[in-house]
Amino acid sequence: MPARLSGRAKDLKSSATVRLENLAKEMQRQGLDVLSFALGEPDFSTPPHICEAACKAIAEGKTTYTPAAGIPELREAIARTVERDYGYSCAPEQVVVSNGGKHALMNVWESILEPGDEVIIFAPYWVTYPAQIGLCGAKPRVVRTTIDNDFQPDLDEVRALVSERTAAILINSPSNPSGAVLERSIIEGLAEIAAEADCWIVSDEIYRHILFDGRQHFSPTMVGDEVRERVLLVDGASKAYSMTGWRIGWTVTPLEVAKAINRLQSQQASNPSSISQWAALAGLEGPQDCVRKMCAEFERRRDYIIPALADIPGVKIGKPAGAFYAFPEVSAHLDGHIVHKGKAVTNDDQLTTYLLEDALISTVPGSEFGLDGYIRLSFATSMDKIQEGVRRLRRGLVGG
Ligand SMILES: Cc1ncc(COP(=O)(O)O)c(C=O)c1O
Repeated sequence: MPARLSGRAKDLKSSATVRLENLAKEMQRQGLDVLSFALGEPDFSTPPHICEAACKAIAEGKTTYTPAAGIPELREAIARTVERDYGYSCAPEQVVVSNGGKHALMNVWESILEPGDEVIIFAPYWVTYPAQIGLCGAKPRVVRTTIDNDFQPDLDEVRALVSERTAAILINSPSNPSGAVLERSIIEGLAEIAAEADCWIVSDEIYRHILFDGRQHFSPTMVGDEVRERVLLVDGASKAYSMTGWRIGWTVTPLEVAKAINRLQSQQASNPSSISQWAALAGLEGPQDCVRKMCAEFERRRDYIIPALADIPGVKIGKPAGAFYAFPEVSAHLDGHIVHKGKAVTNDDQLTTYLLEDALISTVPGSEFGLDGYIRLSFATSMDKIQEGVRRLRRGLVGG
């Protein structure tokens, strides 16, 4: 038999956001003044007390394997954070620490999905969800949401998609890419549907600290004790503490699931970096004003970028309540009035290519998130760049 790649590996698309970011970087290397709004990464350095904890861990020789599920100190600290922020008691054994939120999420799918299973997800969705679900041989069933209803899913549409293969409903609030926060009544409705379907709720809460206008986070784990038994919570240090490169994420789940995730991780990856775990512990246990400061800065940028985008003719945008993304609807500019390299621009993919090559601004097409006619701009970048980026976008779309 010839040497070959697996179908899984061959069919897998690389992450669009990473691909576009790399393309922007390549153009910058060639000397082009490209402004990138493609990547979802806080532009702040990791706070100094977190870096110091990492140096201390190295100096103290905390550089060996740790238990696969993480050092007890960190699992305990996460359990305490859950008790403080969510108001229910959580045993450290329910926590598994992984190599970032992405890995934590993959552990969840591998623990609960059988080939042929279905997961209900909402578009626009984070690009990684369908890819990971597909790797487990399962299928995403997509409920579309739009800017017109503030990206809130219609519960009847969700109910209509439930089948005997429904293994989970996936919630991501605040959302990447829309920045929408699900209304409490919608989360309660989804919890009811999950109970009727007897399926899991996978709740990706990685942006829960980045909320605007004084909002409080509401998680499906807060609906009630019974609901919590079916919630698999994914969280991490990347966005809250500006620790994207350190690769620390975690799951908080009922004990049986945590044991399964622990077994999986021990065979597939072992522990996440020991040094990063000590650093994340300092993040969780240390002063939290760094989180509040970052959030306030994101809010200041949102308050600039949203009205500035809304002011561009043909751009429709609501006010994101959290995360650091603007997700405007731009279908008015896909009617062919823009011509790039002799061809009329009629979809969001062509539009982002045009914006990159002609206006020198890197954005991500909405179709990559399952919703065409939109583009995503991350405002996790400096105010100067945001101002210049909006000017370029305006010029690219309407000229002048
Ligand atoms: C919605 C969402 N979930 C999870 C993650 C995972 O973050 P990380 O693996 O960097 O911790 C990201 C990162 O972009 C994200 O946008």
